[in-house]
Amino acid sequence: MAEESGKWVLMVTAQTPTNIAVIKYWGKRDETLILPVNDSISVTLDPDHLCTTTTVAVSPSFDHDRMWLNAKEISLSGGRFQNCLREIRNRACDFEDKEKGIKIEKKDWEKLHLHIASYNNFPTAAGLASSAAGFACLVFALAKLMNAKEDQSQLSAIARQGSGSACRSLFGGFVKWIMGKDEKGSDSLAVQLADEEHWNDLVIVIAVVSSRQKETSSTSGMRESVETSLLLQHRAKEVVPKRIVQMEEAIKNRDFSSFAQLTCADSNQFHAVCLDTSPPIFYMNDTSHRQFSTNMETCFRIISCVEKWNRSEGSPQVAYTFDAGPNAVLIARNKKVAAQLLQRLLFIFPPSSDTDLNSYVIGDKSILHDAG
Ligand code: DP6
Repeated sequence: MAEESGKWVLMVTAQTPTNIAVIKYWGKRDETLILPVNDSISVTLDPDHLCTTTTVAVSPSFDHDRMWLNAKEISLSGGRFQNCLREIRNRACDFEDKEKGIKIEKKDWEKLHLHIASYNNFPTAAGLASSAAGFACLVFALAKLMNAKEDQSQLSAIARQGSGSACRSLFGGFVKWIMGKDEKGSDSLAVQLADEEHWNDLVIVIAVVSSRQKETSSTSGMRESVETSLLLQHRAKEVVPKRIVQMEEAIKNRDFSSFAQLTCADSNQFHAVCLDTSPPIFYMNDTSHRQFSTNMETCFRIISCVEKWNRSEGSPQVAYTFDAGPNAVLIARNKKVAAQLLQRLLFIFPPSSDTDLNSYVIGDKSILHDAG
């Protein structure tokens, strides 16, 4: 380390969008390494709407690791955070900034403490994949800071150990998380199927039905599903492998009919697996909330609106998908359809109505931004 070692702070800021799975990840075969029971495919959103911004800093004057999420200090004792940090530290390289007189050798990274500030511009843990953006951003920023030379796929295998879905946020556009075969997880990583320019007619509208924190976390929900749902086993072995092939083909050919049909079917099957879990999990509502039925009704009305519309047009115009929460992610085939979709949503749920639908976020697909 440099002579006047207490006087410097080195920092990197990165911004990472969240991703929405169109073929869902649900179930782990290894809880610690976060190895899934099936491949999954997602689309990465526009960072202007749903993203995490993280600044990571090191300084010899920091005496322990600290982290703030949305300006509130949080504990870093969790195994997932420590696993990601250890993996990046193992890959850290020498760093030198002659102008500022900073020199850090590989072995020094072990001794330097971190300060991390992370900010989500959307509700945390409300089923909008906040942990995906969060861990992807953290791993990306730490890798830059510590001068690790890994490529995005190798970084994705590290982000995966923070939160499974995070591995897909290391890329923009359409992304596949390959489940891998290696029981140590070396081949369980994300690859980009198509970049953000490939199918840029698509517009994503997110109808925020509830921004409250979900009651059953994805981690415990999927553990219970693995332990109790027979449908999950059938899905992982028989259904998803075929859907992955079909979805890759639909994305390659920009075939919206197949894309929408597969996306809706996979979302519905994921929620069917949740219902097949014992005790059943209902993610399309918020049971801690007295508007339980309103939330659920809102979700069903959105699904029914899209299904009826798609049928009346003779071919799908909009796809819907719901993650582990009641918020609807709606993918319109183009801008014109997105405008019609908003009109329909506003007609069914006028802003003054007593439903929970409180905002619409419109996004495009986009790329990982390195603001460092
Ligand atoms: C329904 O990645 O949040 O959004 O790996 O336990 O952190 P952990 O789970 P997480 O699960 C995401 C589940 C999902 C589907 C998906 O994103 O593929």
